[in-house]
Amino acid sequence: MKSVVITGANRGIGLELCKQFLAKGNRVFATYRNNVGGLEEIDNPNLSTFKLDVRDATDVQSFASSIEGSVDVLINNAGVSDGRWQSISEIDMQHAMEVIEVNSISPVLVTQKFESKLKSGSKIVMMSSLMGSISDCMSGRSYAYRASKTALNMFSMAMKNELENQGISILIMHPGWVETDMGGPNAPLSVEESVSGIIERIEEQTLELTGRYVQFDGTPIEW
Ligand SMILES: NC(=O)c1ccc[n+]([C@@H]2O[C@H](COP(=O)([O-])OP(=O)(O)OC[C@H]3O[C@@H](n4cnc5c(N)ncnc54)[C@H](OP(=O)(O)O)[C@@H]3O)[C@@H](O)[C@H]2O)c1
Repeated sequence: MKSVVITGANRGIGLELCKQFLAKGNRVFATYRNNVGGLEEIDNPNLSTFKLDVRDATDVQSFASSIEGSVDVLINNAGVSDGRWQSISEIDMQHAMEVIEVNSISPVLVTQKFESKLKSGSKIVMMSSLMGSISDCMSGRSYAYRASKTALNMFSMAMKNELENQGISILIMHPGWVETDMGGPNAPLSVEESVSGIIERIEEQTLELTGRYVQFDGTPIEW
């Protein structure tokens, strides 16, 4: 039985990760920010829930300290989209800062507070996006969201060597365009299909594969 931590697990990809990891017999520590959401309907003794805003360093530390034993898989999943601004003049700087705080800084904060809970063989998953790829940025826009995921990718690569020395690998994941509140109703991929691919990628992850940037089905993504 693996011990799995998932942030932003009350809906969307995080909730489905929680369901599929539990179905495989794992111990899951799932966080929600305000509403328990879909976690409320899960009746499983291997699930523990924790109220957490990933920006709050004190609460992230309390969450990490509340877990007994080590963590095998840490999934930094919580994320927000931006204002979907259509032009530079529309960019709201305060909102852009919030997007970068949640999507780029908070996964690093969570990793920092959980570092002592990870051991050789543990895996960190950063829920990034194809939109963080600079070479894929053809249409522009989504300014803050794109920048936040590119920054997350670089934070991940900058932490990689240090973690590798401790036997800990890091997986930078694009879940696909997924039908969730964020992905919207036109997304071509169901949350079930995306998450079953993500879990395959996590299971096959080794220290030799650390720092790879792939989508849910294993296709590598250009930086
Ligand atoms: N859906 C896609 O097509 C797609 C594509 C590429 C990448 N991604 C990435 O995949 C991840 C999950 O996306 P999703 O589609 O499942 O999104 P979603 O349905 O909008 O869910 C986002 C989750 O993040 C949580 N969250 C947001 N801000 C938080 C904060 N400050 N503290 C704690 N939790 C917070 C939300 O909690 P609340 O309910 O409290 O808001 C919710 O549980 C995100 O990182 C996203 O960028 C998604």
